[in-house]
Amino acid sequence: MTESDLSQPPTRDLCGTMLVHRRLLNESTTYRSRRAVIENRALQYERGRRSPARTDVVTIPVVVHVVHNPAVPAQNIGDDQVHSQIAVLNRDFRAANPDLDKVPEVWRPLVADARIEFRLAALDPEGEPTDGIVRVPTGRTSFGFDDAVKSSASGGSDPWPTDEYLNVWVCQLGGGLLGYAQFPGGPPQTDGVVILHSAFGTTGTAAPPFDGGRTATHEIGHWLDLYHIWGDDDGACSSDDKVADTPNQADANTGSPVFPHVSCGNGPHGDMFVNYMDYTDDAAMFMFTRGQSKRMDACLEGARASFLVASGALTAPSPSAPSPSAPSPSAAGGPVRDGTAPGGITQQAAMPGPSHWPAPAAAPGVTGTAGTTGATAADAATVPAQPGPDGHGGPGGHAGPDGEVGRLLRDSERLAAEVLKEIRTVIDMVGGGDRPGG
Ligand code: ARG
Ligand code: ZN
Ligand code: CA
Repeated sequence: MTESDLSQPPTRDLCGTMLVHRRLLNESTTYRSRRAVIENRALQYERGRRSPARTDVVTIPVVVHVVHNPAVPAQNIGDDQVHSQIAVLNRDFRAANPDLDKVPEVWRPLVADARIEFRLAALDPEGEPTDGIVRVPTGRTSFGFDDAVKSSASGGSDPWPTDEYLNVWVCQLGGGLLGYAQFPGGPPQTDGVVILHSAFGTTGTAAPPFDGGRTATHEIGHWLDLYHIWGDDDGACSSDDKVADTPNQADANTGSPVFPHVSCGNGPHGDMFVNYMDYTDDAAMFMFTRGQSKRMDACLEGARASFLVASGALTAPSPSAPSPSAPSPSAAGGPVRDGTAPGGITQQAAMPGPSHWPAPAAAPGVTGTAGTTGATAADAATVPAQPGPDGHGGPGGHAGPDGEVGRLLRDSERLAAEVLKEIRTVIDMVGGGDRPGG
């Protein structure tokens, strides 16, 4: 993708996230291979070959970078607006949002509690106390999806280590862009989500119809590896979101559709436009599905496994947290630094190996994170760490008999081949003729 492409405002049905995804697929062999490994793992979860080991709630430490132009004081949003956004996330990812009752009857059984909570960081990368909000003045009047906001060298704010914190940049975005995210597997120095300040939280500068905090819910869905439910195929019905329980749908829905809206022969219930991964107004999206939750689990137990450990020490219980039925492990058990996740999951060490990313242009705050947004050592192996529900051990069990392992191995290789084929298709679609090694 060229510079001039980057300066074009995105069309409404191709959000910044997919443009960044396609740019990275085009530019980086590392991203392509990491995406293949991540898709392979997600497919194993999706097809029941592998099951989420996690049952407890995971708490993600968040740092919010408020990048603002002093000439426009409104851009320097207040702490209360930031807190209002964290509160929305803690409802939406726990299926504790009060508008859940607007989900059409037929999809209620699919509503998922993703068991993910968010807390503003209580400790900064140096271990000093923080409120988790960084305020950085900029000379720029607005930003695009070229990641300039993520580096102080280009008028933005450098990330905190992206394997320990979810970095959220809040700023003025141009071109009608509400936000964009980086999928797992990308360069650590740009990992995180970017949100337009007036589409962030529920108070302050938040403006209708995007004043429900759902832009962050949607973008963090991408950050946890969710695709748009229509599959980004411009209405072709040929590509989907790789999640079986969201109906195949033609294109993005906008505004506040009336049930049912049928496309791609998905009647009688039609498009699941109430899903956070569609493009409807904030007041018209209410749910993630079980399949999406499982895909987020695949990500949290794979590419983002670093968030399953040690997060307790970086966060403090926040007053804006909901009162979920299950107590947050970090709140209940205190800091966990012993290599065991709160849910009893043994730490999957991130692959330390040499970085294949170009050196960060300017991200001094990022150290030692090179391998962590990509594949884990466990992903690299084709044998699943645990047998799936159709295996003999179940979650937490040990490897099955040889025959079972062999079957899983072959299955895994077949899935990997399928995924590679799909990625090649996407690359061809975006005209990636410069791809080394075909
Ligand atoms: N990346 C999408 C965009 O820029 C975000 C859509 C979020 N939708 C919402 N209702 N907040 O348009
Ligand atoms: Zn999106
Ligand atoms: Ca689907």
